[in-house]
Amino acid sequence: MATPLQAAVLEWYRADRRDLPWRRTRDPYAILVSEVMLQQTQVARVVPRYEAWLERWPSAVALAAASPAQVLTEWVGLGYNRRALRLREACVVVARDGWPRDAAGLARLPGIGPYTAAAVASFAFDEQVAAVDTNVARVASRVGLTPAELLPAGEAAEWNQAAMELGARVCGARRVLCPECPAGAWCPSSGQVVVAPRAPKGSRQRFEDTDRYARGRIVAALAGGAALPADLGAERLERALSGLERDGLVVRGSDGAARLPS
Ligand code: ADE
Repeated sequence: MATPLQAAVLEWYRADRRDLPWRRTRDPYAILVSEVMLQQTQVARVVPRYEAWLERWPSAVALAAASPAQVLTEWVGLGYNRRALRLREACVVVARDGWPRDAAGLARLPGIGPYTAAAVASFAFDEQVAAVDTNVARVASRVGLTPAELLPAGEAAEWNQAAMELGARVCGARRVLCPECPAGAWCPSSGQVVVAPRAPKGSRQRFEDTDRYARGRIVAALAGGAALPADLGAERLERALSGLERDGLVVRGSDGAARLPS
């Protein structure tokens, strides 16, 4: 039996959920692709990339047969390129051994952490486990329960989506909309949440100054057959290239020329 809080959140989700393509499938491969993409990129930007990806590689077997260079090229702009290579490696294992059907087995695949394993296990295989990302952890903490205590019996697949949706749209880290919250009547934090101020603008690092930006520019250039981005400056370019090489995202030929791993 769901508690009144759980029932109210599920009802809100059923009535008001965003119609996202990975919510219309129970294919573990499609769900895994969506979850890996969503780890660093906003929903609106993921949707078209997810659809293009599934069109190009509709199954784990198809992705396993792709080269790392093809995978990195399709991933350009989605950030953290290593995740794309790990996704492909996971599919190589799945193509050989089949899908592990529970979270414990999924978590043994390359690059799949406890959150992603639980998300795939609950959405694709209906395993009754809480998928705990930062949104879900925050929601549970604000209602004074652990994510596992908050999980309604038998409803894991829908609950995990609902709890994420609540964390993304109502119960945010900084955007806290208690008057609109379906759980408000039962939540000990309702109207009580104090949001820490953001660091002042000048003290935040600009994205264009990060290593991640430099690495992304390099991978995009190599994927598109363009010259390395000289505007980064020789020193920064070399540092980012060395990091990419160390992580297996770039290989250098005997002439020192960088390319994506084939
Ligand atoms: N973020 C991570 N997983 C998600 C999902 N399944 N739906 C919406 N946002 C998400």
